[in-house]
Amino acid sequence: MEKREQLYEGKAKIVYRTDDPERYIVYYKDDATAFNGLKKGTITGKGELNNRISAHFFALLEEHGIPTHFEKLLSPREMLVKKVTILPIEVVVRNIAAGSLAKRLGLAEGTPLARPVLEFYYKSDALGDPMINEYHVYALNLASAGELRALSDYALKVDSILSAYLAERGLELVDFKLEFGRTAAGRVILADEISPDTCRFWDKATHEKLDKDRFRRDMGGVEEAYQEIWRRLTGGTE
Ligand code: TMP
Repeated sequence: MEKREQLYEGKAKIVYRTDDPERYIVYYKDDATAFNGLKKGTITGKGELNNRISAHFFALLEEHGIPTHFEKLLSPREMLVKKVTILPIEVVVRNIAAGSLAKRLGLAEGTPLARPVLEFYYKSDALGDPMINEYHVYALNLASAGELRALSDYALKVDSILSAYLAERGLELVDFKLEFGRTAAGRVILADEISPDTCRFWDKATHEKLDKDRFRRDMGGVEEAYQEIWRRLTGGTE
């Protein structure tokens, strides 16, 4: 697999073309941003950890029948993925009130939700990713009804699979954000990343935050939290 020119650089990752027109390489950076890029920093070792953690989750989800863009790890910071066009919809699933939901609805952080909440956000840095609903999705032609159904079904399945898997490892999956892409054949598959940058993970017993909130909220121990997630996933065996 030969790496070709850079196609796109985001806040946390870089996408490269390869000599295979159907495959891209994703490179995970240590750069971290929050609040739509207003806060900037570096989390040493984050790129390697998020690459490995995402690969681990994508492989687990594939085993459970969720199609993803992940093909294989290529290096500590790089994975080979299927070429997709990312749908401009960020899909958030929540199990416990935290972050923007806690604020918007006046709930104490940590309040359990009686059932998972599915939310859509319009992926636009210029607008700060505003929340939308299915009417906006259709009005703006962001996805077809079939695609929206597929990504909603996948997102809720991902929630059950990951929540159960993480519970066995002493972790609560508070909430997370997914992105989906369209393949050349027109299939919708899970893309982007699944990592402590894009999920809230709390220790089940102590409710300690083991995710990017430590960076967003200047709590310290950011690198250690990401390492702890990797340790919990693998039991320190990989
Ligand atoms: P929120 O509570 O700030 O809306 O975040 C919900 C979830 O989405 C949380 O797990 C963090 C994740 N997230 C991202 O991955 N990217 C983002 O830009 C934001 C705002 C949240």
